[in-house]
Amino acid sequence: MMMPAAFLFLLSTILLSGKAAASCHPSDKEALLAIRDALGNPDQLSSWTTESSCCDDWINVECDDSTGRVTALCITPVGDDDDEVDGSSTPGTIPEAIASLSHLEELQLIHLPNLSGPIPPAIAKLSNLSVLIISSTAISGPVPPFLGELRELTQLDLSNNSLSGSIPASLADNTNLCSIDISHNSLTGSLPPSLFSKAKPPQDDDEEGGNYTVSLDLSHNRLSGSIPAEWSAVMFDTLSLSSNAFTGDASDLFGREKPLDSLDLSYNRFSFNLSGVELPEELDFLDLSHNAIYGSIPVQVPDFMDSQDFNVSYNLLCGEVPDALASFDADSFQHNSCLCGAPLEPCR
Ligand SMILES: *[C@@H]1O[C@H](CO)[C@@H](O)[C@H](O)[C@H]1NC(C)=O
Ligand SMILES: *[C@@H]1O[C@H](CO)[C@@H](O)[C@H](O)[C@H]1NC(C)=O
Ligand SMILES: *[C@@H]1O[C@H](CO)[C@@H](O)[C@H](O)[C@H]1NC(C)=O
Ligand SMILES: *[C@@H]1O[C@H](CO)[C@@H](O)[C@H](O)[C@H]1NC(C)=O
Ligand SMILES: *[C@@H]1O[C@H](CO)[C@@H](O)[C@H](O)[C@H]1NC(C)=O
Ligand SMILES: *[C@@H]1O[C@H](CO)[C@@H](O)[C@H](O)[C@H]1NC(C)=O
Repeated sequence: MMMPAAFLFLLSTILLSGKAAASCHPSDKEALLAIRDALGNPDQLSSWTTESSCCDDWINVECDDSTGRVTALCITPVGDDDDEVDGSSTPGTIPEAIASLSHLEELQLIHLPNLSGPIPPAIAKLSNLSVLIISSTAISGPVPPFLGELRELTQLDLSNNSLSGSIPASLADNTNLCSIDISHNSLTGSLPPSLFSKAKPPQDDDEEGGNYTVSLDLSHNRLSGSIPAEWSAVMFDTLSLSSNAFTGDASDLFGREKPLDSLDLSYNRFSFNLSGVELPEELDFLDLSHNAIYGSIPVQVPDFMDSQDFNVSYNLLCGEVPDALASFDADSFQHNSCLCGAPLEPCR
């Protein structure tokens, strides 16, 4: 079929400009404008105007190029130096209109100290959400059980807010979840035994030999109770339970073959015998300070880089410091029952 040159020219112009014009789906734009208004039209969203395209011209928004659907919304104070734009001008609660961004895969609300109220059920409608970060805001209320409905969720960061109540067992239903950070809140209660129990390795397991590891940070809360026996089967690579009120035996977290590379149990009331524990080969950060751990430091220790990476101070340990740690700062070993040997006093 022959086409007149002028028609071809017109067609290609439409296709070319079409790429840019198709970039903002009307219903997503409408939702974003509602979000902007609900947040009180803050300065940092001044690029969100009705005339412009939400995919091309708006900051904090990312789209799927081919569909023009909004896939990421990341509201955080703009600029590296926060001299003029600070998040404190964003008032209000998390807008319900977020639920209309049906293709959203990533939602980040970070450093918005005036954002308050609970996490709304609307969030549970975002069925493709993979990354949810609401951090350093004033949101309060519980960690809602409905977050367990987000089946695509891989990363949940609710750190540094004012959340209270206990950790919902339903988070175990997020089978793709491999990173949870709810540190610096006011959580109470005990640890759900089922957490990460249904975790299934990612389908594309060609990387890293397919080993599935998870990371968990619950530090700086008011959690209590002991570590569930079920957690000895969880493949943690990073675990921080620092600054809570945990008690009991944490030795099941250890083991030569565990993929653990960072463990922080400091400032709790853990009490167990460290003598027979096998430190994981991969471990390069260990803080056990301020507990009631007894026994001795295992002779076989992995390669810690320096003193900052190893701390067993303020416990009830006894016996000789292993040679591999002799060059470390005495601070790492202070306030124990009867530890001895370099860098401490010689053993008698
Ligand atoms: C944001 O919070 C700060 C400190 O709490 C307060 O001074 C300011 O008035 C708040 N701004 C708005 C717009 O609510
Ligand atoms: C969710 O993601 C899948 C795969 O990327 C896509 O096929 C589907 O349309 C998305 N659903 C929504 C509601 O965005
Ligand atoms: C925690 O959030 C507050 C604002 O709510 C912020 O001032 C502070 O820097 C945050 N702390 C961390 C460690 O991010
Ligand atoms: C995967 O895990 C197994 C058993 O835990 C271990 O033997 C293997 O070395 C790990 N593979 C990698 C690439 O870390
Ligand atoms: C700790 O365990 C070791 C064996 O691993 C044992 O010899 C020692 O008596 C135990 N210490 C205490 C205080 O129970
Ligand atoms: C170990 O922890 C104690 C208590 O928190 C602290 O005083 C000391 O400086 C720490 N040591 C190192 C080397 O970080």
